[in-house]
Amino acid sequence: MKESIVNKGHITVAADAAELARKGAELFCQMAKETLERQGYFAVAISGGSTPRAMYRLLSQEPYMSAIPWQQTHIFWVDERMVPADHPASNYGTTKKDLIEKIPISGDQIFPMPGHMNPEEASSEYQTKLETFFIKTANNYPVFDLILLGIGSDGHTASLFPGDPSAETRGKWVISTKGGNPDVFRLTLTFEIFNQARCICFLVSGKEKALVMKTLFEDPNAQLPPQKIRPARGKLIWLLDTSAASLLTVNNYASEE
Ligand code: 6PG
Repeated sequence: MKESIVNKGHITVAADAAELARKGAELFCQMAKETLERQGYFAVAISGGSTPRAMYRLLSQEPYMSAIPWQQTHIFWVDERMVPADHPASNYGTTKKDLIEKIPISGDQIFPMPGHMNPEEASSEYQTKLETFFIKTANNYPVFDLILLGIGSDGHTASLFPGDPSAETRGKWVISTKGGNPDVFRLTLTFEIFNQARCICFLVSGKEKALVMKTLFEDPNAQLPPQKIRPARGKLIWLLDTSAASLLTVNNYASEE
């Protein structure tokens, strides 16, 4: 286990984006199986963006398709752009094509964030969805079994943007923010939810992420959102490909043999 200055995460470096997708799919399977040994459901919150798409497509193919207990799996989103589900920028719309339409899962196991409402109404609707689904833990927060996060080259994660004061909101599970590409209103889960998760996995791929990864791992004062993600009791996993890790000076992370 290679411990990094970024909140003691486990770092794995995949040879390329294809292996990163496979490693992500394997982790998804492993977490689903481990979770169902402990409880009757597997609750996962997933990111949008381009990085995880190859992994999502893999999950609907063998060997992952039949290895995952889809009947007990419940899929939430970490964030959403406030656009209709059929808009090309919709995270739900993209994942529906890549995964949801291809797996044996019912509509009541899928929890898209409402992109067609005004942000404030949408955030309280999603908060209600979370309250209704989760048996609140002792800390009174929903506990996801796995959260998949990406990182923008500007250092954002989910839709928590560097320097955005709303990202620091406390006492809320879902907030509305604005920014990113496209620069639209968004919903996002908050640090409080992320830091209650049993496992958080950052999936990061590509040379354009190398500099922000170096900043994250080498400048604790950069105050970037991913540096505020430290699961209280859960695992933190960094799944990078060699391009995204190419500027890291960490010289002995658990790269794949
Ligand atoms: C979003 C995503 C966002 C994403 C990063 C990385 O809705 O935009 O949730 O947080 O994970 O922007 O995106 P790429 O994987 O496309 O680089």
